[in-house]
Amino acid sequence: MRFQGKKALVTGAAGGIGKSLVRKLRAEGASVAITDIALSNVEAEAHFPGDLSAAQFCDDLPNKAKDALGGLDILINNAGIIRRGKITEATDDDFKSTMAVNIEAPFRLCRSTIPILVKNGGGSIVNIASCWGLNPGPDHPIYIMSKAALASFTQCLGRDHAHQNIRVNAVCPNEVNTPMIRSGFSIRGLDPEKAIKELNGSVPLGRIAEPDDISDVILFLASDEARYMCGSLVEVNGGKPVS
Ligand SMILES: NC(=O)c1ccc[n+]([C@@H]2O[C@H](COP(=O)([O-])OP(=O)(O)OC[C@H]3O[C@@H](n4cnc5c(N)ncnc54)[C@H](O)[C@@H]3O)[C@@H](O)[C@H]2O)c1
Repeated sequence: MRFQGKKALVTGAAGGIGKSLVRKLRAEGASVAITDIALSNVEAEAHFPGDLSAAQFCDDLPNKAKDALGGLDILINNAGIIRRGKITEATDDDFKSTMAVNIEAPFRLCRSTIPILVKNGGGSIVNIASCWGLNPGPDHPIYIMSKAALASFTQCLGRDHAHQNIRVNAVCPNEVNTPMIRSGFSIRGLDPEKAIKELNGSVPLGRIAEPDDISDVILFLASDEARYMCGSLVEVNGGKPVS
């Protein structure tokens, strides 16, 4: 029960990693406010369906979560989108949407959350970046630069707010078995089951990550067990480097 009495806000809560996060946080005693553009039937203490590319929605969300839960200790910036293809295939919307969801939303949410955490005497923020933001892979320049920016942002905030007992860290997964990766296979006309089996063979541990493999590390960083970690970028990759 590492999160007994803690209040958390989780974005992208209806996604693969998001659902796992919310379930585990609540199982360990947290009260959780969740947000997603497509908020289905995920159980939580407070629901805020909405579009993270809407600036005002993001600016207001941490205070709304705090009011609904009676406080706020943890923010997990998990929502993200991936637009694929080389730059010559990219549209303005690919660029703008990616920056809005993957960078601007975490910026706005952190900016609104940090004053709440300062008043509390501290708290924890975990951003979900990507291995690909640390070591670029092929053909995803927009996604990769957004995750590189999120990683850098994490290091900046980790340094700037440690003195306020606010720990900001990031998890950087490689491939995870969620709708995000499956949709990429479907778009390319591949059977996601077959494609994932093949991809499993490229990972030294023998399989790509399941959402729980990632959420366990996110929750470690959010918890007091990671009390001395600030601005860390933790790769969770089953031994697979980006190539
Ligand atoms: N799946 C992977 O292989 C992988 C690898 C590295 C990093 N990540 C990162 O992990 C995080 C979680 O991804 P996932 O794999 O669970 O993907 P997912 O697609 O299953 O979940 C992402 C969630 O974000 C939500 N979202 C997207 N745009 C939104 C918007 N405008 N407003 C509100 N919500 C919005 C989606 O509705 C979805 O529920 C993302 O930041 C992703 O970039 C995933």
